[in-house]
Amino acid sequence: MEKLVIHGGNRLSGEVEISGAKNAAVAIIPATLLAQDICRIENIPNISDVSCMVRILSQMGAQIRYINKHTIEINTKTVNSYIVPHEMTKQLRASYYLIGALLGRYSRAKVALPGGCNFGVRPIDLHIKGFELLGARATVENAMINASADRLTGSHIYMDKVSVGATINIMLAAVKARGLTIIDNAAKEPHIVDLANFLNSMGADVRGAGTDVIKIHGVNELHGCTYNIIPDQIEAGTYMVAAAATGGDVLIKNVIPKHLESITAKLIECGAQVTEYDDSVRVQSEGRFRRINLKTMPHPGFPTDMQPQMSVLLSVAEGTSLVSEGVWDNRFKYVDQLIRMGADVRVDGTIAVFQGVSELTGAPVKADDLRAGAAMIIAGLIARGVTEIEDIIYIDRGYEDYVEKLRNLGADIYRMEVRDEVKTENAG
Ligand code: UD1
Repeated sequence: MEKLVIHGGNRLSGEVEISGAKNAAVAIIPATLLAQDICRIENIPNISDVSCMVRILSQMGAQIRYINKHTIEINTKTVNSYIVPHEMTKQLRASYYLIGALLGRYSRAKVALPGGCNFGVRPIDLHIKGFELLGARATVENAMINASADRLTGSHIYMDKVSVGATINIMLAAVKARGLTIIDNAAKEPHIVDLANFLNSMGADVRGAGTDVIKIHGVNELHGCTYNIIPDQIEAGTYMVAAAATGGDVLIKNVIPKHLESITAKLIECGAQVTEYDDSVRVQSEGRFRRINLKTMPHPGFPTDMQPQMSVLLSVAEGTSLVSEGVWDNRFKYVDQLIRMGADVRVDGTIAVFQGVSELTGAPVKADDLRAGAAMIIAGLIARGVTEIEDIIYIDRGYEDYVEKLRNLGADIYRMEVRDEVKTENAG
């Protein structure tokens, strides 16, 4: 097992290249099941969540060929099962996309309930409601979801709550269903659009992704394609906040600035300077910040997956900042770690009050989940002294080569082997 050691105080400067989007990749890889053909996926991020999803497909019988670090070919013709056991799904929340993809391919799916990041109850009622409206019978027994239909049929599905996962799962199940499916109150995240573009490259007919209403005309067959995944919005946002928090000057390359607008707006409100170019953004700051209020919401609102990172910056902003978590019930667990580093934070349910302090001090902390881990890195970068972060397997799930990327920007960060009992559960 490894931990991170960070000697804080260095300002970040230079350039960093953003990798492909994790949340798009973990949807697109299972979507290849729908084609029974060869798909070539480019700009795949080299992170453990993706290798986990690729491994699951390979265990299901797909042929995988790595062309290079960021390009794979997946041939799903050789897959011949609609059953995915717990051993395969336990490490990855997104493994539930296999339900939609297998339903789309076989009209049947038996998939063990997934693992996942541990920030509150993570129901799947909306996924199940969607499958049922498409004509499937869906039950949960012994922690397995069992869904089947004679033939899926298009339907009008109103989402009671905006859900990224349910929108994606219903899209996967509906692309080959008979007739028209309408998903109303759909999620609009960039990776929903990316998945729709990928499905259309395979011959699907998906329209309206990125708006509240997605219309899917079912087609009989899909074919292989070559597809390039969008850059990771949250990785880019994390480097933006890290650059600002350290009083740095960083050019963040290979991004879609439009996807970063809510993050850009909040950084500017805090006092940082953000300059947008065609496919990069430059973040500069003096390292002094004004207080702000922040509320996380589904896209195009401020992303919940950026809340912990941004909150670290607010912990050293002048005055009192209010952070309201509008997506998850329990996403302030990392605050305990931040308080160990000297932050002044009070949490009441889904609201946290940050009373800005003049500085954070290094401490031994842990990564409670992927984005909490990213927040701890930013805290370590700005803290006085040494910060050691444990449980970094969570960070490895979603950030490619982050130690190298941060070192290139001037951070004093390295991995260190620690001898301890092995922890495996609770990934996501
Ligand atoms: C995805 C992201 C995750 C991000 C989240 C919100 C992936 C792999 N993960 O997670 O990083 O934090 O979007 O942007 O893309 N809900 C229900 N019933 C359901 C499904 C969801 O009530 O059937 C609720 C959840 O409890 C939550 C909210 O809807 O409060 C949003 O969840 P959802 O958008 O589905 O998140 P995920 O797709 O799991």
